[in-house]
Amino acid sequence: MTSGTADTITMDLNGAYKKINSILSGMADSGFDALCIFEQFITKREELLAFSERECDETRLQRAVNAAHRRTEGYPLQYILGEWEFYGRTFKVGEGVLIPRPDTETLIDEAQRIIDSFDGKRRMVCADLCAGSGCIGITLERNNPGKLRMYAVELSGDVFPYLVDNIGRHGAEIVMIRGDISNGVLLDNFIDDDGEEMGIDLIVSNPPYLSEKEMDELQKEVTFEPSMALYGGADGLQFYRVISRLWGEMLNKCGAIVFEIGETQRADVEKILLECGFCDINIVQYAGMDRVISARKR
Ligand SMILES: C[S@@+](CC[C@H](N)C(=O)[O-])C[C@H]1O[C@@H](n2cnc3c(N)ncnc32)[C@H](O)[C@@H]1O
Repeated sequence: MTSGTADTITMDLNGAYKKINSILSGMADSGFDALCIFEQFITKREELLAFSERECDETRLQRAVNAAHRRTEGYPLQYILGEWEFYGRTFKVGEGVLIPRPDTETLIDEAQRIIDSFDGKRRMVCADLCAGSGCIGITLERNNPGKLRMYAVELSGDVFPYLVDNIGRHGAEIVMIRGDISNGVLLDNFIDDDGEEMGIDLIVSNPPYLSEKEMDELQKEVTFEPSMALYGGADGLQFYRVISRLWGEMLNKCGAIVFEIGETQRADVEKILLECGFCDINIVQYAGMDRVISARKR
């Protein structure tokens, strides 16, 4: 409900919610998005339900309305909210950072299967390559407290502060390395407590994997995410080659690699892994599509 003079228009909470909803009407999930935006900028849904006639703060309403308009342009809800859930934990996200996807939770399950099969006589050395928000490395480290010696490698200066923040937010014990995964010098960071070079037991990675053609056909919403997180070279396979060849050399005997892949990349990535001396290839699907591949070093 609205009331007031020409200068001051006031609106109650119910009216504010309806206004946001009407801006988003016609969009998929508009009700969910409207409620999220309402909670982010105005107040909790419990207050809306219990005190719907309470007056809505004008500045807050204006911010919510602006966010709703932004959303109609395809701007991701996750960037509006500044955080998103992944495998039961909330991660800080924002422009420049890839939004954690439910597909990637499949990678967590496959990596956990491999962690569970490790002999457990010492801490397992793991590397999360192209770490982004840190959702993979943090989830695995927190779900296996004290069992993993986790490293996270990320190149982007825009992303790195989010990685630092998320590691702190979840109290994860992770060594962060800022650098380009194709630079072999990064491998010098893998040293044990005595300063000796150390092999890796498990590599996990959701690298950029879209081809040039796929980059030209992105859905509007994805165009707001950084191309650096998406583009995997002309054929989309560049990161699989570099990681399998360069980082594969660092894997201990029977060490494993777990990649997220695009739904058409299974055969190509399998070929790369076989050429680099991997075996025991396993594919895991998400929503009926190939999404994760794992392999062991012979
Ligand atoms: C597909 S995103 C994955 C982010 C996160 N692991 C996830 O699953 O949500 C790929 C990440 O790789 C980073 N990246 C791109 N090129 C890189 C490189 N050469 N070395 C290290 N990181 C890189 C991007 O900045 C981005 O954060």
